[in-house]
Amino acid sequence: MYSKELFAVAALGFASGAAAVGCKDDPVVIRNQQDADQVAKCSTIPHDLVLDTSAGPAIDLGSTLTEIQGSLQVNNNGLIQTLSCESLKTIGNTFQLHNLTSLTSLMFTGLEEVGSIDWITLSKLPEPTFGEPGITKAQSIMVSDTFIENLNGLNVQNVADMNINNNHRLTLFSTSIKTLSNVLLVNDNGLNLTMEMPNLEWIANMTIANVSSFSVPSLKTVNGSMRFDSNYFTDFLAANLTTIQDGDLSFVSNPDLLNISIPLLEKVGGGFTIANNTALGKVNGFGSLKDVGGAILMRGSFDDIELNALTDVVGTAQFISTEDISTSCKKLQSLSGNVVQGTVTTCRGNDAGANNGTSSDDSGSGSGSGGNGEGAASLASASMTTVVTLATLGGLVAAFL
Ligand SMILES: *[C@@H]1O[C@H](CO)[C@@H](O)[C@H](O)[C@H]1NC(C)=O
Ligand SMILES: *[C@@H]1O[C@H](CO)[C@@H](O)[C@H](O)[C@H]1NC(C)=O
Ligand SMILES: *[C@@H]1O[C@H](CO)[C@@H](O)[C@H](O)[C@H]1NC(C)=O
Ligand SMILES: *[C@@H]1O[C@H](CO)[C@@H](O)[C@H](O)[C@H]1NC(C)=O
Ligand SMILES: *[C@@H]1O[C@H](CO)[C@@H](O)[C@H](O)[C@H]1NC(C)=O
Ligand SMILES: *[C@@H]1O[C@H](CO)[C@@H](O)[C@H](O)[C@H]1NC(C)=O
Ligand SMILES: *[C@@H]1O[C@H](CO)[C@@H](O)[C@H](O)[C@H]1NC(C)=O
Ligand SMILES: *[C@@H]1O[C@H](CO)[C@@H](O)[C@H](O)[C@H]1NC(C)=O
Ligand SMILES: *[C@@H]1O[C@H](CO)[C@@H](O)[C@H](O)[C@H]1NC(C)=O
Repeated sequence: MYSKELFAVAALGFASGAAAVGCKDDPVVIRNQQDADQVAKCSTIPHDLVLDTSAGPAIDLGSTLTEIQGSLQVNNNGLIQTLSCESLKTIGNTFQLHNLTSLTSLMFTGLEEVGSIDWITLSKLPEPTFGEPGITKAQSIMVSDTFIENLNGLNVQNVADMNINNNHRLTLFSTSIKTLSNVLLVNDNGLNLTMEMPNLEWIANMTIANVSSFSVPSLKTVNGSMRFDSNYFTDFLAANLTTIQDGDLSFVSNPDLLNISIPLLEKVGGGFTIANNTALGKVNGFGSLKDVGGAILMRGSFDDIELNALTDVVGTAQFISTEDISTSCKKLQSLSGNVVQGTVTTCRGNDAGANNGTSSDDSGSGSGSGGNGEGAASLASASMTTVVTLATLGGLVAAFL
């Protein structure tokens, strides 16, 4: 015998001219607003909710649905313009939006927890609308190739991974994260991107490129590496940072950088690289730096290098500048073989190729002071990225000697 319910569902199916959609479908597939109206009556969806490529232009999931235990997926849909649900609080797995080229409005004012955010190619979405407090829990966040101007409403405190890239309109990325346990990658966003992480206390690794302003006032520990390539900030200050535990610290090709200051930094576990920051006149913001676990590589246009607290560098050290650094070199050379275990292979000023990253001691440019190590020779044709890696390797090689 047919149950009343089944009959009702079948009737609904006929009424909407489509197969009935049930809360427990695996996955629940929405092809149009009629389907969405049925789904909007579910309070929980135990599996995935998927919007078909033909759903749109407006899909509203109503005000009853509070939880999707699987993922919410909308992919490859050029039709959908607005997507909303005011009641949804939790997405257990991924909130995935891929290749939605007409989406202009995304409103999830009740959303607080997601497993992860995975948004790629949202070419018209200026800003997602979340409520208060917004999304406070997410394991990982990927926002790539969107029209998004700011990421307000992402108020996550602890996250494992965050990758923000190719969002050409993004000019403000201000995040409340306190800890980040794997990797933060930021690159190729808006040309005038301000990045603020006022609450960040520790971060495992970060690689930041193409950012115009950067602030981490509370940062104390970097567990892995911290790299800054091709940014446009003039000042870099990490006032509370004391330790870079296991990885590298590097500043490469940041053309506007005038001042780097990490006054409390005592330890860099890996290599320490400063190269091709052509506006940087002095390296004097590392007054507490004692230990470097890898090599030190400094190439630039500075006339002063102060590393007065150094007590142990496991790898080699190389200093090359376009300016006269003879005063600094006197002090630095005296560290060779004692403080700098791998020896100071080069300390040389007045070298026009200092910022090229291709000038090796072998090339004979400048007033070479000899004693170049094999690291320098292999730098001859290295790209800047390789240079950074070599600084770490230099440290490792020296450590095994
Ligand atoms: C993006 O979605 C459109 C439909 O809107 C589709 O034609 C296109 O193949 C998709 N692109 C990719 C890279 O999947
Ligand atoms: C990073 O270092 C902080 C401070 O020492 C520590 O509390 C945290 O657990 C470390 N995180 C990782 C991922 O190692
Ligand atoms: C910075 O980003 C802009 C726009 O995304 C891009 O045109 C430019 O090439 C990037 N610059 C660097 C040095 O990465
Ligand atoms: C970049 O942003 C700052 C403030 O955020 C503003 O003062 C400056 O004019 C902007 N520069 C450009 C080129 O848009
Ligand atoms: C810097 O560290 C000190 C000591 O741990 C702490 O009291 C202070 O609040 C920190 N500053 C910021 C801006 O977080
Ligand atoms: C990030 O840093 C941790 C140390 O906390 C390290 O073990 C891990 O391999 C790093 N991950 C990447 C991708 O660099
Ligand atoms: C040095 O930095 C400038 C400006 O950012 C860049 O154009 C150039 O390619 C860099 N040189 C190397 C060798 O990376
Ligand atoms: C560099 O910045 C630090 C911290 O803001 C500041 O104390 C120092 O005076 C600055 N140095 C120069 C040369 O401007
Ligand atoms: C540095 O690079 C510039 C531009 O590529 C080049 O003109 C110059 O000759 C190079 N200098 C040295 C010393 O290699």
